[in-house]
Amino acid sequence: MSIESIYLKNFRNHILKKFQFDEKNFIVGKNGSGKTSIVEAIYIVFSGRSFRTNRLRNAINNNHDFFELNGRLSEEGISIPFKLTYKTGKEFFIDKKKVENSTEFILKHPIVCYSPENEGFLSDEMEVRRRFLDRLIGYVYPQHIVNLKSYLKLLNIKKSYIHKKIKDPLLYSSIHEKMIFFGNRISSKRVEFIEKFNSIIDKNINDFPTFLSENFSLKFAASEIHVSLIDSEIAKGMVLTGPHRDKISFLINGKICENFASFGQRKSLSLFCIYCFIKVVEEFLKYGIIVILDDLEAGLDAERVKFFLEKIKPSQLFITGLPNNTFEKFNTINIE
Ligand SMILES: Nc1ncnc2c1ncn2[C@@H]1O[C@H](COP(=O)(O)OP(=O)(O)O)[C@@H](O)[C@H]1O
Ligand SMILES: [Mg+2]
Repeated sequence: MSIESIYLKNFRNHILKKFQFDEKNFIVGKNGSGKTSIVEAIYIVFSGRSFRTNRLRNAINNNHDFFELNGRLSEEGISIPFKLTYKTGKEFFIDKKKVENSTEFILKHPIVCYSPENEGFLSDEMEVRRRFLDRLIGYVYPQHIVNLKSYLKLLNIKKSYIHKKIKDPLLYSSIHEKMIFFGNRISSKRVEFIEKFNSIIDKNINDFPTFLSENFSLKFAASEIHVSLIDSEIAKGMVLTGPHRDKISFLINGKICENFASFGQRKSLSLFCIYCFIKVVEEFLKYGIIVILDDLEAGLDAERVKFFLEKIKPSQLFITGLPNNTFEKFNTINIE
């Protein structure tokens, strides 16, 4: 699976631009020229969301009121047109037919991205870490995404009751029952996949001896739902427990390491996580994964860049970077 071409219309700083892709692509341009925006658009097509913002609306060019991404995908050697528009909501068309439920498409088209604007498990934001994990789980076990959606719907209903300071115990008991049902399933899948991820880390870390000088693992803490907290939840105006508060931490040499990992350390570990993400997907799925490495070289020495690129074998690869770098055998797209 790969993307052959894309037209960006009113997407960030690109008013109307077309790009043609190969298997390996190097998007090069100065700061602010729109490199990240191009890979962001590709990511949106395959994942339904941006890796930089929770609101697709932010990606609409400031002087317009919609964006459109259209182009062609290649699916088992067959070329298919796609179109994604966003005005007040998202509309997605594959082969000129409107896709009513894009989840199925998304889960069959795995993509993973490293960007300084989204470090996956190494991100400062817990939500970004959970999302990185949930997408990985979803590729292997699609029901997880269905469970998450059901849980989030219930969470929003509960939030609306809490904000209105409703105190009816009967109302909460039926909601809580369902939240616990989905919450347990979500957290136990997360536990299972963190274990899987850690075992992939163990198996592969020795292949990266010069790349990573430290031991690395992930730690998961589920936030069990406590229905007895409802009074303080109403007082505080927030839902205090549940999978939306599950924590993923990373351990370096056995210590939880939140704020003191250096930039280079974080980046090496983020890239290693991308590698492990690919390994998990490959183990379960027959189709390949698209990989985006935004600003790959920033803060990373040339030897490590080369080493990492030799290790990963995606179905399609996008790298962005500054001028004066070249990657042999890459389709270089210079965006000035
Ligand atoms: N919604 C928007 N409308 C117009 N311009 C935008 C919007 N969002 C971002 N930009 C601008 O687009 C430019 C390209 O950003 P980006 O893709 O991050 O560039 P690069 O990755 O090449 O440094 C920046 O100058 C940024 O300010
Ligand atoms: Mg950028």
